[in-house]
Amino acid sequence: MRPSGTATAAVALAAAGLLGAIVPAPAEARAAVLPYQDPSLPVATRVTDLLGRMSLDDKVGQMTQSERGTTTAADVTAYRVGSVLSGGGSAPSPNTPAGWADMYDAYQRGALATPLQIPILYGIDAVHGNNNVPGSTIFPHNIGLGATRDPALVERIGRATAEEVTGAGQDWTFAPCLCVARNDRWGRTYESFGEKPEIATAMTTIVDGLQGSRLDGPASVLATAKHYIGDGGTTGGTDQGNTQISEAELRAVHLPPFAAAVQRGVGSVMISYSSFNGVKLHGNKYLITDLLKGELGFTGFVVSDWAAIDQLDGQRGFTQAEVVTAVNAGLDMIMVPTDWKTFVGYLRAAAQSGQIPLSRIDDANRRILTKKFELGLFERPYADRGYATTIGSAAHRDLARQAVRQSQVLLKNAGGILPLAKTGGKIFVAGKSADDIGNQSGGWTLSWQGAGGNTVPGTSILAGIRAAAGSGTTITYQRDGTGIDNSYRAAIAVVGETPYAEGQGDRTGSMSLDATDLATLSRLRSAGVPVIVVLVSGRPLDVAAEIGNWNALLAAWLPGSEGAGVADVLFGDYAPTGKLPVTWMQSAAQQPINDGDGKTPLFPYGFGLTYADTQPDPDPTPTDPAPAGACRVRYTTSDWSSGFTGTVALTNTGPAALAPWTLSWTFTGGQTVTQAWSARVTQSGAVVTATGETWSASLAPGATVSFGFNGSHGGSNPRPAAFTLNGAACTAE
Ligand code: GLC
Repeated sequence: MRPSGTATAAVALAAAGLLGAIVPAPAEARAAVLPYQDPSLPVATRVTDLLGRMSLDDKVGQMTQSERGTTTAADVTAYRVGSVLSGGGSAPSPNTPAGWADMYDAYQRGALATPLQIPILYGIDAVHGNNNVPGSTIFPHNIGLGATRDPALVERIGRATAEEVTGAGQDWTFAPCLCVARNDRWGRTYESFGEKPEIATAMTTIVDGLQGSRLDGPASVLATAKHYIGDGGTTGGTDQGNTQISEAELRAVHLPPFAAAVQRGVGSVMISYSSFNGVKLHGNKYLITDLLKGELGFTGFVVSDWAAIDQLDGQRGFTQAEVVTAVNAGLDMIMVPTDWKTFVGYLRAAAQSGQIPLSRIDDANRRILTKKFELGLFERPYADRGYATTIGSAAHRDLARQAVRQSQVLLKNAGGILPLAKTGGKIFVAGKSADDIGNQSGGWTLSWQGAGGNTVPGTSILAGIRAAAGSGTTITYQRDGTGIDNSYRAAIAVVGETPYAEGQGDRTGSMSLDATDLATLSRLRSAGVPVIVVLVSGRPLDVAAEIGNWNALLAAWLPGSEGAGVADVLFGDYAPTGKLPVTWMQSAAQQPINDGDGKTPLFPYGFGLTYADTQPDPDPTPTDPAPAGACRVRYTTSDWSSGFTGTVALTNTGPAALAPWTLSWTFTGGQTVTQAWSARVTQSGAVVTATGETWSASLAPGATVSFGFNGSHGGSNPRPAAFTLNGAACTAE
């Protein structure tokens, strides 16, 4: 949605002759003299009319995406450039929301100075908030969101991100990454929602958040499903590598999230650098045109990755032949960050020579223009600065903090050391990532690779701990742990990875903690106080050799700017509900290790303790008779249009341990379980049965086991009427 505010001012100035010819009357000030300029006409009609007026240069320009660092507003006018992007960290000066909006408006004025006045699209990587703009809310990276198993939360994050992107003037984000990370060595594991397609498929709700119910709705921005297809399945987890699997496995593991995104109307799809069985995706006509556009019916436009077509012939730089291969394979817009003027020449020549049919050029333009009309850019081309107030707002930070809470996965809690009491005694905090908001934000934060340090406004994990602890508690912080002694009731070590992005994050060797962290942990352990480890990382790390020395382990992933959400879990203001979205290896030698592959992990996919799981054993002689039924069940669901995530907390209220335990219920709305975690869930007809994993086969008296599952429904999702545990009726909360 674009306002008329800026445009109206320009009209006044233009009318007064103060702006002269350099700023043409903006769209809404023009009388709608041509059909494509008439918003009352159907988009398809407007596209056809405009296409009929476009020269080959106009069409070539629309298929060109250049980088802001090599493109002026005058270039946009001269070459009819259809889109400009910011690569990671490529920002205007001043790097402020107003600076971004001014830059955007300048490019739009350049576009509106062309004869047909086709607005540009401006693309950025707002992949965990509008992470390019200082002061923006930085949300947890996708791997943490996958641990929440909360599609509705992720949709809200999409909406908040869309508002902050709009407030800075941009209209297109290269998100979500719907990659399914199958090897944790991959440097982009943290951009994935998890190792199985079900989570990424469920989390495509973020597309609804970003694009809204209408693309021309308030603060709606164009979303991008990326990177199509199989980027997370390369051999060895090599970024931009080769995915060597059958087509059946490609379709089963990597395609479902894209199919779901297409069903939700995602406006663009970005192609992966990687190859499928040796064929570069950017040249794969079968997967792009036949499968994505044909079989899935994708009607948006397909954009290349950054200078990705340069890789098609295995030589540096790009050639006209590579342009031909990519466009004929089905790419509609080519991201050419620097040498885009050469690209314009190659594309024009290829169209003139017939190497690229004009029908393909027109199809690409039709797709691109359709999204521009649907976004309302022709009517409201300028930045909607009214949303600038949402950037880093308290409401968005609260949402981010909730996401941080829900993303925490409790992996160990010996003796119920967590939650920590808020008051009394002394707590020692150490670790390179305790007071480092840059580390906790990870890559794609202000810069492409991200960086450690006090990089963005927000709350470090240490600051969250200090705020959560009561006035009667002393919090001592020393990064390397020096000064610890046994006078402390606990030590919290916040350790893990420093920021990285893409291939620079590939880990081909050790996946263990670094020497700095190991030295800190050793120092803490030598004091003889309980050690609670908070792991800030973009993936599981190889900790099996050390975990025996730790009293507790909390996987925090890359929480972003609101580190207080971690403290909320440490001190019990939020009991952990997160579940592993990836299998946690026993050893890096096991990579790739995924659910169902027969390897024995340290922690299985879907694992995650709650505080109820670790309560000390109950009084062996219960004073009251056991309540009705031998169990208590808390059954909650998180619903979306065609499915839901169910979460069950089952407590054995009987006097004896149950091994095995079997919980059953009957669906009455045609629901079907599609995937489960932390329990073995099967369904026969309407009857669902859940039983323990190997590591939760026995349910002690008073103990609680939590598990979850995804399911499909036909529109309604009625709650089961009753639950039975080993045949005995349960009390349902
Ligand atoms: C990068 C990434 C892609 C990103 C694009 C633009 O290389 O692969 O995810 O959207 O370039 O920054």
